[in-house]
Amino acid sequence: CRPGGRIVAMSVQKTNKLQQAEKLLHEFRQSSATPLALLHQVANDLVHEMNAGLAVEGGSDQLKMLPTYVQNLPSGKEKGLFYAVDLGGTNFRVLRVLLGGKSGQILSQEFKEVAIPRELMVGTGKDLFDFIAGTLAAFVDTEDESLKLHFGKVRESGFAFSFPVRQTSVKSGIVIHWTKGFKVEDAVGKDIVKQLQDALGRSGHQIVISALVNDTVGTLAGGRYNFEEETMVGCIIGTGTNACYVERADAVQKWEDPLPKSGEMVINMEWGNFRSHLLPRTFADEEVDRESVNPGCQWFEKMISGMYLGEIVRHVLVRLAEEASLFGASVPVKLYERRTLGTPAVSKMHADTSTDLQVVAKVLRQVYGVETTTLEERKIVHKVCDILGERGGRLAAAGLYGILKKIGRTGTAMNGATDRKKTVIAMDGGLFEHHGTYRAYMEETLQELMGSGAAYEVALRLQNDGSGIGAALLAASHSQFS
Ligand code: GLC
Repeated sequence: CRPGGRIVAMSVQKTNKLQQAEKLLHEFRQSSATPLALLHQVANDLVHEMNAGLAVEGGSDQLKMLPTYVQNLPSGKEKGLFYAVDLGGTNFRVLRVLLGGKSGQILSQEFKEVAIPRELMVGTGKDLFDFIAGTLAAFVDTEDESLKLHFGKVRESGFAFSFPVRQTSVKSGIVIHWTKGFKVEDAVGKDIVKQLQDALGRSGHQIVISALVNDTVGTLAGGRYNFEEETMVGCIIGTGTNACYVERADAVQKWEDPLPKSGEMVINMEWGNFRSHLLPRTFADEEVDRESVNPGCQWFEKMISGMYLGEIVRHVLVRLAEEASLFGASVPVKLYERRTLGTPAVSKMHADTSTDLQVVAKVLRQVYGVETTTLEERKIVHKVCDILGERGGRLAAAGLYGILKKIGRTGTAMNGATDRKKTVIAMDGGLFEHHGTYRAYMEETLQELMGSGAAYEVALRLQNDGSGIGAALLAASHSQFS
């Protein structure tokens, strides 16, 4: 009969729709797959690029491998009142830290976080640095009277500046280019510390910048201060991604400084620009790259960090909506709008363990106005988040494994792993901190790559506020006054 017929026809249509969505999902899953063998190859490729980057001034085509001039990480004896300015992503922070003089002893710490107005991210250097200097100066003014009395007028600050910089000393460096949506053209090619120092001068405050550090370096420094000697790597998985590590000074072939080439040197890899042809890039990665302010650059970063994850998911959903009518006959208009799906929303959907995936339903309703969804449809959306979270976590782990390989901290234990040496990786960044499933994939994969019977026991440790506190610590260990 007719009504029955219609119902049958509709459910057939619905099944077809789902089948089509599942087919697309399956193809997508295959194009973004990260089997262990591939990850080993990716890690080898990274090691190859690291060596190439250490050999030539300016680095290789993919990895800059920037010497940071940080040869002494905090010893734990740092003491006194220090500030830090932390510019690196969506938010900008100023911090005040009172160090007690013993490892891990932070007597007090306060911070203030402000969002960077979007126009300043793409405006002039003067406007950006006046804003930063003004915020730091106003924060210094909120100091306790007792601190003012005890420490006099001059303040020292570290500057965590998380963009590619060719450092010329521990407190100077030239901006190479911007990443993560910033584009302050007239600041490129100039000393970034001088620009901030000049702006601080204009603010009328006596604040001296004693250390310029990448956020990964700050994280590594904080890790050494809080955890232990065996902290060899600092890694950020946040808005952007990057890693630094402790290298033997004599392995930095391009370093022509008159300083003796002995000891160690922290290298800022700028691994976000790793562009191995082995990376499992999909149509969605290509779209995200095309729409970014820096097409063709930062592939690794665009595949694994927070600034792009939501966008990649959105592009996959657009395809599913267009080609499998995932959200009904017409594609929700908002789905075409850029940056509508933030990574926190993706992370929430991914973490949804309820049997009816209510969180997924809520996000789709709130962000895209999709009022009703079936459980099957929500499962597909959940799967998209899972595929991409898994890929990001696994690729990040392969990157870390590559670094460990480079510094000789992989391999099998001779004595049956009874006496394993330790390596600590200090981690920071919103994605690592708040996206539990991503983090779990990353941790699991790193252990898988290390293999059973590994000679080293590797631990990923969250170094909260890594960049800011680390910058203050490095300002202390490179203090110009003590
Ligand atoms: C971007 C920057 C890099 C930074 C990373 C994490 O990749 O270029 O300097 O460390 O983001 O914030």
